[in-house]
Amino acid sequence: MPPKKAAGGSKKTSAQTKKKVEKKTAPVQDSNVPTFSAPPIKKAEKEIRSLEKEIRHHQYLYYVKNEPSISDFEFDKMFRRLQDLEKAYPEMMDPASPTLTVGSDLEKDFVKFTHKLPVLSLENTYNEAEILDWIRKTDPDGLYSVEWKIDGASIMLYYEDGLLANGVTRGTGGIGDDVTDNIRTIRSIPLRLEEKVSVYLRGEVYMTYSEFEEFNEMSEGRYANPRNLTSGSLKQKSSLDVAKRPLRIFTYDAFFPDPKRKFKTHAEIMNRVEALKFPVPPDSKLVSGNEVAATIQEFKKKKEKLGFPTDGLVIKLNDLAQRQSLGYTSHSPRWARAFKFDALMKESKIVGIDYAVGRTGKITPRAQIEPINLAGTTVTYATLHNQDYIDELGVGIGAVVRISKRGEIIPAVEEVVVPGKKVFKIPQVCPSCGTKTEKREDSVDRFCPNPDCPDRVKNGIIFFCSRKQMDIEGLGEKQIEFLYDNEYIKNIADLYELEKHKENLLEEEGYGEKSVGIILKGIEESKKKDFRFVLSSLGLREIGPKVAELLIEHGYESMDSIVEAVKGEGKSEALMEIPGIGPSTVEAIVENFSDKRILKLLERLKKAGLKMKADPVAKSEKQPFAGQTWCVTGSFEHFQPREKATDLIVYYGGKKVGSISSKTTHLLAGPGAGSKLDKAKELGVQIVSEGEFLDLLRQNDIVFS
Ligand code: IVH
Repeated sequence: MPPKKAAGGSKKTSAQTKKKVEKKTAPVQDSNVPTFSAPPIKKAEKEIRSLEKEIRHHQYLYYVKNEPSISDFEFDKMFRRLQDLEKAYPEMMDPASPTLTVGSDLEKDFVKFTHKLPVLSLENTYNEAEILDWIRKTDPDGLYSVEWKIDGASIMLYYEDGLLANGVTRGTGGIGDDVTDNIRTIRSIPLRLEEKVSVYLRGEVYMTYSEFEEFNEMSEGRYANPRNLTSGSLKQKSSLDVAKRPLRIFTYDAFFPDPKRKFKTHAEIMNRVEALKFPVPPDSKLVSGNEVAATIQEFKKKKEKLGFPTDGLVIKLNDLAQRQSLGYTSHSPRWARAFKFDALMKESKIVGIDYAVGRTGKITPRAQIEPINLAGTTVTYATLHNQDYIDELGVGIGAVVRISKRGEIIPAVEEVVVPGKKVFKIPQVCPSCGTKTEKREDSVDRFCPNPDCPDRVKNGIIFFCSRKQMDIEGLGEKQIEFLYDNEYIKNIADLYELEKHKENLLEEEGYGEKSVGIILKGIEESKKKDFRFVLSSLGLREIGPKVAELLIEHGYESMDSIVEAVKGEGKSEALMEIPGIGPSTVEAIVENFSDKRILKLLERLKKAGLKMKADPVAKSEKQPFAGQTWCVTGSFEHFQPREKATDLIVYYGGKKVGSISSKTTHLLAGPGAGSKLDKAKELGVQIVSEGEFLDLLRQNDIVFS
């Protein structure tokens, strides 16, 4: 089937990546992977047409219905066969071929596109009473569609005679950017409809929370939230890059230009849209005016469990004739309202702005605000993300703003209520070291390029010592800052020489025998941490936990083997073979592991006794999980971090995977399981709770610490 991380991860298509795996693991011809020999043209044409149809059908089952009916392997084989045939007979290629979803690296400037209909926005309210008042005045007995307001990027899709002709951003509402090449990479958008119908659809491109997190983790946490990453993705110049991002779409309105085709209601339109195989928002409900209040409560209850971002509800009158007679104001229809959830939004005033310089050099402006209580925590800072974001909001010191806090995501300035004095400009020099900052082509952020920048180094050490990484007890932000500022440490390797300075350290205020003892023991203990932690804790560009895991899984089980892999001519080729590792990551690996400073650091860490190669995977003689494939998600009481559970599964014969597919046999799910749980239910994967898992271990006489 198409890539698991739906259009996501760093994969191009699983067809491409699978091909690489096969090349790598089966250099001798595999009977399952026939080499390509082109059939005669007539036969090829027939096969191309039939493959297109079949692939489209399976993409629909996978991306829209969430019900794949064939294995990834079978799908990839079909996809690859179509690619081969298209290469042999390019003249036969359908302009809407499903193989176009892999994107192209041709950079393109966006052409302006005049919308065929004005793309209006909605009047917003945070006040439920206002919604009910609007219903009372409009038609209390009428039917209304209540839908999620998807928090992504608004898009118009123009289909002419069944073919996707243009995908266009909202822009001014009159003119938008033609981003068709990027839109084509979104697997849930059909490039050709099954009927030769013309239709203009409106929808929202979005990302699920879990796919965002996975992608963001691979990108070293560069992105603030799914919405920012989504709208940034649509504006990427190379569609090859867009294809790697886990974008999805929901369509929520359509216009059929055929005058013969008359619809009476919104529900009829949406039924037709669904029949044309577009994904539509889940849970949409048609209710009478007097049921809207209760329906809003129902939606609110479901909100926290949703796997994708929403910022409210849209409430639309169902009857189209009634809509017409109500008409429009200058920028929004009178027949619909957006009701924004405000539970996690509060007003405050910006009293100052400062900047954080992260370990990657990224400079993040933060608004210091008058303290407010949001979702149970006192918030004193809220992120302003970057200059584009600040400009878009037009925000400065003194502004009254609305602050949001959603789930795990850090508090952010969302809206300006009263603008401040002057729109804020991020300084062009690093606030920590004074080096001139740089804007990178692939990012909206500014970066400090100085690897010795004190804040970068400090944050790098903080990351290294953090719980998720080397987990060094006693070394939190405060202590690391102290040790750095007082020249006890200048880099992570110095941590392992801290013992030498014990006497001096004991002289410092707040550093008694006990606390110094904890720190030194913590440092010593970290030498036992697995190689995968060492590798991902170095803070090397693009080499986070996921990439470290992939490298180890594909045979790069030691620092030396990686250093070796980047040496000499064609150095990156073998790394390119690893599914899930894209060209920019390979570039970063080559750059990092050829850098003399980094090699010197590695040498010091090796001397200090850190694990520079992976431990052989231990297996028990008892293999109760043999033949089973487990995915572990959510949080657990007895397994913290949750790798403790995965390690047990692997030790006792099972296989672990990071995402749910038809091949997954079990999902160990704790609270906060999210979209993986939904997917497991859909695919009939056995769901196991922590209690049931503990029972299973007990039944098999497995004891663990
Ligand atoms: S209906 C003419 N329905 O929210 C009104 N909009 O201003 C057409 N949005 O930018 C919009 N989910 O992009 C509608 N279920 C939904 C929506 C939705 C998200 C966005 C839309 C627009 C904004 C409302």
